[in-house]
Formats: sequence, C-alpha cells, structure tokens
Amino acid sequence: MGNNLLKGKRGIIFGALNDMSIAWKVAELAHQEGATFTLSNTHVACRMGEVTDLAAKTGSELVPADATNVEDLENVFKQSTEILGGKIDFVLHSIGMSLNVRKKRVYHDLDYNYLQKTLDISAISFHKMLQVAFKLDAMSEWGSVLALSYVAAQRTLYGYNDMADAKALLESIARSFGYIFGRERKVRVNTISQSPTVTTAGSGVKGFDGLVDFADRMSPLGNADAQDCANFCAMMFSDYARKVTMQNLFHDGGFSSMGMSMRAMKQYNKSFDSGELSDLY
Ligand SMILES: NC(=O)c1ccc[n+]([C@@H]2O[C@H](COP(=O)([O-])OP(=O)(O)OC[C@H]3O[C@@H](n4cnc5c(N)ncnc54)[C@H](O)[C@@H]3O)[C@@H](O)[C@H]2O)c1
Repeated sequence: MGNNLLKGKRGIIFGALNDMSIAWKVAELAHQEGATFTLSNTHVACRMGEVTDLAAKTGSELVPADATNVEDLENVFKQSTEILGGKIDFVLHSIGMSLNVRKKRVYHDLDYNYLQKTLDISAISFHKMLQVAFKLDAMSEWGSVLALSYVAAQRTLYGYNDMADAKALLESIARSFGYIFGRERKVRVNTISQSPTVTTAGSGVKGFDGLVDFADRMSPLGNADAQDCANFCAMMFSDYARKVTMQNLFHDGGFSSMGMSMRAMKQYNKSFDSGELSDLY
C-alpha cells in the first residue's frame, strides 16, 4: 500500500526495460503512490521487451521513442499530455548505453563514433528532453525532472570507460538547464548518483561484480538497490522536495564520502594473507 505521495501527479518514465531496471521499480512505486504516467523506451525495446507487461500492470500507455531523436521526444511529450489530460509533473530519464563498453573498447583506445553515441544517448538526450519539454511548455509549475548518474562523474573507477564522461556531462546539463527551467517555469532538475545496481546496463561494466562488492564494503549503509532508488525518486517527484534543484544527489549508502572502510580493509588484507597481493611487492 502506498501513501498517496504522488496522488494526482502526471509523469513520463523513460528507460524501463525489464524488472531489474531502476525505471521499472520507479514505475511500480509511482503507480502505488497514486501517479498516472506514460512509459517510453526505444522502438525495439517496446516491441520486443517486457515493458508492455509493466504498462498493463500500471495502467499506463507506452509511447516509443529513441531519446536521441527530437521529433520522437516531441511526440512523447505531446502524446503524454493528451493521454494524461494535462501538463507533466515529473519526468525520469533512466537511459544509458555505451558501445565502447559493449564492444570492449578500453578508454585509451576509444572508437570516436561510439563515443559520440555514448554522449548522445546517455547525456545529450537529457538536454533534448528538457528543451522539448521547455519549448512545448509541457511541464507544470513545481514539476520535477530527474536523471540517473554515477559517482564516476567525479571519481575515476576502473572499467566505467566513456560512461564517466557522459555522466559528467549529464550532471552539468542538470545544473545548466535547471537554472533556466527554475527561473522561467519553477521546474526542478536534478540528478541522482546511484550505487552500482545489478541491472542490464550495470552488468555491462567490466568487473561489475567486484565493483558492487567493493562499493558495498565501503558504504556504511551498504549499497542502495533499485527499490531504494525508486523510493528516493518518488520523494524527489513529491512536493516534499519543492526547493531542491540543480543538484547531484548521492544515493549510495555513504560511498562517495569514504576513503577506506573497516570491511574493505579486512577484505584487502585477506588477499595479502592468501599471498595473492604479496607476490606483487
Ligand atoms: N545499474 C547501475 O549500476 C547504475 C548505477 C548508477 C546509475 N545508473 C544509471 O541508471 C540508468 C538506468 O539504467 P539501469 O541500470 O536501470 O539499466 P537498464 O539497462 O535497465 O536501463 C537502461 C535503459 O536505457 C534505454 N535506452 C538505451 N538507449 C536508448 C535510446 N537511444 N533511447 C531511449 N532509451 C534508450 C534501454 O532500453 C534501457 O531501458 C542509466 O542512466 C544508468 O547509467 C545505473
């Protein structure tokens, strides 16, 4: 049972692919909390994927869009205001993809066409979304727009590759557009920097299991999972966060403020005991 936190609010949720997706958990919770919304994903994901099940379950309509295509995005915002019967109160951008990661191109041997795609899909699509919403005047006053980021925007993490650059750009777009959207329309724009989370996109990152374990050991509260992230998104969409904008909010159990933890140190020392690391020195 929900608490009607989002009762009467209209939203658009981009990026639910399967039941592991962060956007999927957000959609389930938003539905439980009384919101109505449309769902959007690529044409292929909408045709082939499980997202139609989510649409049925949450009573929402699917509006396919390639998030790098401005016309597609215009269609999503126009259709959504029609379907939902008014302006949009919240938008979730839960989209990320790197062909360099997929094709195992390391950061010092990037394919630049892939890099352009990484930046377009994972970051510039957020600008496109904001610009379309702004030009169509599709957002309600005090509306809330969120995108999902990762701490690799600030710190170097092995294997995250060109997605780190995409996340840095994504967070910058939230600040730059957040100023304009706040000034002109009282709309909030933020990014949530989430713990490593086992999803289709997450699992593509090299050494992902090790990263999840390391982050969990380093975080005093442990990793935030997809459901925790959905809870935080719902709060950010609600009126309880009306004056929060242009922020990158770490939602990571404390990871981003840590240097070394007792649990991580114990694990690190074990590798000395087993001789795994001592051979290196
Ligand atoms: N999983 C993690 O560890 C983690 C950590 C921090 C941040 N994030 C971010 O969370 C967001 C959601 O990822 P997730 O982990 O739920 O994985 P996911 O694979 O379930 O979601 C990624 C989504 O992006 C969509 N997408 C890809 N290209 C697109 C395009 N051109 N147009 C529209 N949609 C497109 C995919 O279809 C998919 O639904 C991403 O921005 C990701 O970088 C994930």
